[in-house]
Amino acid sequence: MALTSELGKQIKLKEVEGTLLQLATVDNWSQIQSFEAKPDDLLICTYPKAGTTWIQEIVDMIEQNGDVEKCQRAIIQQRHPFIEWARPPQPSGFHHVAQAGLKFLSSSNPPSSAYQSAEITNFLYVARNAKDCMVSYYHFQRMNHKLPDPGTWEEYFETFINGKVVWGSWFDHVKGWWEMKDRYQILFLFYEDIKRDPKHEIQKVMKFMGKNLDETVLDKIVQETSFEKMKENPMTNRSTVSKSIMDQSISPFMRKGTVGDWKNHFTVAQNERFDEIYRKKMEGTSINFCMEL
Ligand code: A3P
Repeated sequence: MALTSELGKQIKLKEVEGTLLQLATVDNWSQIQSFEAKPDDLLICTYPKAGTTWIQEIVDMIEQNGDVEKCQRAIIQQRHPFIEWARPPQPSGFHHVAQAGLKFLSSSNPPSSAYQSAEITNFLYVARNAKDCMVSYYHFQRMNHKLPDPGTWEEYFETFINGKVVWGSWFDHVKGWWEMKDRYQILFLFYEDIKRDPKHEIQKVMKFMGKNLDETVLDKIVQETSFEKMKENPMTNRSTVSKSIMDQSISPFMRKGTVGDWKNHFTVAQNERFDEIYRKKMEGTSINFCMEL
């Protein structure tokens, strides 16, 4: 499947086991499946645009006991590499991870592709409500020239609800990970909860990581991981990524960081249709998303 980006580039995607993937990921698919985590590893799993960068920074701040300088040692993509970005012989993904002994990793993998070492892996899953994810992904596809041009908002609405985006259907991803959460070591968080009460959610992450930080450090982590701070932070805001890959003049990577921006995009008819689809697809799950704060 080849789609065109806003720059007119042909973006080749391939469907693997029902999920659309970028070619670099397809090349590494079997290695991703056989990725072996060590018992101390923490694998952050998210559907795209669910707040991956946010939780990555929170985890690193906790690990570094709130030391801002230490969190400035490298861009977030290097501190928490995505295992699917591995592309031998480039030193990224699990090759890099294995060599560097990193223990914080990230992945957008759908739950169907369970890792061989799932029993011993600690997973941190962050879910964000589907409507805001769709809006965020739409703007991300506009500015990211490694992804297909999303087309008009109306076109993208169809693409997204049919799961024809990279990493597949939001519904399958979130539902699948939710169903896995009691079988494995998974801390399941919601973007909307972190937004509403960051200290409380950061405390949960801290406990999951087996750390014990005092109130002052926690308050500092809340402050340093706020949207405003991370938007200004070159280690998190993707300003180091070339404009030919991410053109932030089209849409910034740290775009709005709010809950409920979907209301500025969805028509009343789209919203009704989406709610109907949501009910059908998510039937039987107990997930209750907060759509507005
Ligand atoms: P918006 O496009 O809605 O602004 P990911 O890191 O998974 O790609 O997700 C990116 C989304 O998370 C973007 O959403 C971004 O603004 C938001 N985000 C990043 N850091 C954040 C923070 N500290 N607080 C709130 N939202 C944040």
